[in-house]
Amino acid sequence: MKRGSESVSFIGLGYVGLCTAAVLASRGMKIIGVDIDGEKIAKLAKGETPLHEPGLGSMLKSAVKNRRIQFTTDIDRVVEADVTFITVGTPSNQDGSISLTFVKKAAEDVGSAIRGADAYHLVVVKSTVIPGTTTGLVRPVLESSSGKPCGPKLGLCSNPEFLAEGSAITNTLHPDKIVIGANDEKSGDKLVKLYQRIYRARKIPTIITNPTTAETIKYASNAFLATRVSTINTIANICQRLPSGDVETVAKAIGLDPRIGSVYLKAGPGYGGSCFHKDLQAFIAFSRGLDYDPVLLTAVEEVNRRQANEIVKLSRKLLGTLENRRIAVLGLAFKKDTDDVREAASLRVIEELVNNSASVSAYDPMAIENARKVLPQQVELATDSRSCLKGAECCILMTEWDEFRQLKPRAFKTLMRTPNIVDARRIRRQGDFQGFNYLAVGLGATMPPIPVLAAPSK
Ligand code: UGA
Repeated sequence: MKRGSESVSFIGLGYVGLCTAAVLASRGMKIIGVDIDGEKIAKLAKGETPLHEPGLGSMLKSAVKNRRIQFTTDIDRVVEADVTFITVGTPSNQDGSISLTFVKKAAEDVGSAIRGADAYHLVVVKSTVIPGTTTGLVRPVLESSSGKPCGPKLGLCSNPEFLAEGSAITNTLHPDKIVIGANDEKSGDKLVKLYQRIYRARKIPTIITNPTTAETIKYASNAFLATRVSTINTIANICQRLPSGDVETVAKAIGLDPRIGSVYLKAGPGYGGSCFHKDLQAFIAFSRGLDYDPVLLTAVEEVNRRQANEIVKLSRKLLGTLENRRIAVLGLAFKKDTDDVREAASLRVIEELVNNSASVSAYDPMAIENARKVLPQQVELATDSRSCLKGAECCILMTEWDEFRQLKPRAFKTLMRTPNIVDARRIRRQGDFQGFNYLAVGLGATMPPIPVLAAPSK
């Protein structure tokens, strides 16, 4: 790749690497995308997207067409870039602690690639890594493999990401903040300038700190969000046991307090996805290593694990026993608009149903293929919601897909053997289901439909 405009390389082309690379390419930067997976690279080189993410496909296609992005398995090509982002995965070890094997290997390989090169090269750790990794692991590995110390010729920063699946491109185009943990002033300045080129006149709040604090911000963010979900689910479980309790009204009301805020207060079957559980486990293991037991975070995880059982309990309440009962699970993805089932609550709920000898049929508009690889064999995977509902004695609404919001109550009534609904996401109203047995997360069983917010009293 010819020098001229800023060129940036990415090592690891998962969600974070690919979405960030696509956005930078759309801003006119020259991108080299590196991954060890040759099949993935071949697909990408043809402009095909290996993952489902709104907006990513068209952005990649145009970047490939305009040759603003090139894909390769040859990591030595990072020497052609001015900046290299490490965006490899950080999976969990058996005990929940983080595995830094890929990060270490990436640092080693980048160092070897730039060894002997004279130009300044900035290495940016974007993968989620436990506090201290950039300074304590990446820096020494990089310095040793490149043969140069961090400073005049070699820059190093931590720069965590905060993008969510399903909105990764929008989040990258419109971040609420940029966090830069700079090893030294020159490294920080270089990264700030790169982001200025992307966001131009827009002033994105930028926190410049040391690498360890930057790494901690990422875990704090996910720990806090997960805590909110487990907190509202705890309140939901209490509301559910009150004759006229309703967690939605509680959430609306407390959300009006600016100290609390209204987002991320949706009760449900528990959080899923590739980040919260993994990051909380890694942070818990890391804290214990520091001789601090973060009991709040272990409780957040425990509440989440048990939440699936709360959903199963609702179906048991309707059916008495689950044994040989036909249960339709609508939704497998960990949230709507993704095909991702990693750590999805649906998997925990289905496991519990199967353990109780229920006969389960399941359907998802997008995640069937991924679910098939991890669900027990006896789970029947339906091709649409209607065939999933056929003959069911209970339907659990698991994922908040629009398709399930729009299903007519009549369809449930005519297809199901008995009209029992468990709404694990509160996507429907009790009033929609006249003549049904309808139970929902955080809704007291005998609650009459009431207006959401009362008018202020005079
Ligand atoms: C999450 C964070 O939101 C991102 O900021 C972060 O960058 C990302 O992890 C990461 O570390 O890579 P993501 O896992 O894609 O993003 O999904 P979220 O939209 O945050 O949802 C996580 C889970 O919480 C989902 O299962 C969702 O259904 C659940 N949730 C979320 C609730 O049950 N209630 C809520 O109010 C919000």
